[in-house]
Amino acid sequence: MTEMPSSAPAVSAALAAELAAIAATVAETAGRRIAQLRDAGVDVAATKSSATDVVTAADREAERLVAALIREARPDDGILGEEGASDSGTTGITWVVDPIDGTVNYLYDLPIFSVSIAATVSDPTAFADGRRAVAGAVCAPRSGELFVASAGGGATRNGVPIRVSAQQELGLALVGTGFGYTSERRAEQAEVVARVLPRVRDIRRLGSAAYDLCMVASGRLDAYYERGLQPWDYAAAALIAREAGAELRGVDERTPPGEPLLLAAPPAIAGALHDTVSARR
Ligand code: IPD
Ligand code: CA
Ligand code: CA
Repeated sequence: MTEMPSSAPAVSAALAAELAAIAATVAETAGRRIAQLRDAGVDVAATKSSATDVVTAADREAERLVAALIREARPDDGILGEEGASDSGTTGITWVVDPIDGTVNYLYDLPIFSVSIAATVSDPTAFADGRRAVAGAVCAPRSGELFVASAGGGATRNGVPIRVSAQQELGLALVGTGFGYTSERRAEQAEVVARVLPRVRDIRRLGSAAYDLCMVASGRLDAYYERGLQPWDYAAAALIAREAGAELRGVDERTPPGEPLLLAAPPAIAGALHDTVSARR
């Protein structure tokens, strides 16, 4: 474990683009690998927060692969991975990794799962976990999609620029959301969804938060919200959504987006959705 630099490094547009290219290559390589591993069969290796919160051998292998590829490209950066990778590095840049986002889909061989990789810097005001992505990539290998963004550089899907939808009315919006693994968390989420569902076109629960946010970025969902996300679920895809024009909101004005709430929507409907999610309407 190495010493943490005291302040965040200044990241130029050129460095952000370089980090985005690394994120893209690594996400694509890991995406290919998890798809191959799924084709060969899947084994539950352990459970985490509840009996339904599983980790497979593929989650662990993919995280090891991602960490090795990042260390090869950027040996002095830090790494934080869902399955335990943890190294603070010396450059002030920390890679935040979800090796398989959508593990339950993966287990059932449903095609929506992704690899999420973000290069982040410290920024206590940007997100609830105190870090902000300057570059990120999400690879969904079954659909052959690679989403990439760098701060200020825009967002792309398979190299083509993407944009959020032009939706103006919450009542016509298709809204993605997700649910945690514990029964207490789900009881709260059920109350929120009961408020939102009558006020929107419909709800989708795709099963991968990173992919949900990329769908908002592509205009294939109008909006998304979830409570209880971890940094690796949103680090890359929140940047992708923001770079595609989404407004990101947290639970209130004082709390940045993140674990308590992350909402992403086109600016025209972000306020109305936020009011509905927070029971102000
Ligand atoms: C989960 C997925 C899911 C979201 C959960 C996450 P995992 O991540 O992103 O869509 O609703 O909150 O924990 O466990 O598949 O990496
Ligand atoms: Ca995840
Ligand atoms: Ca995961």
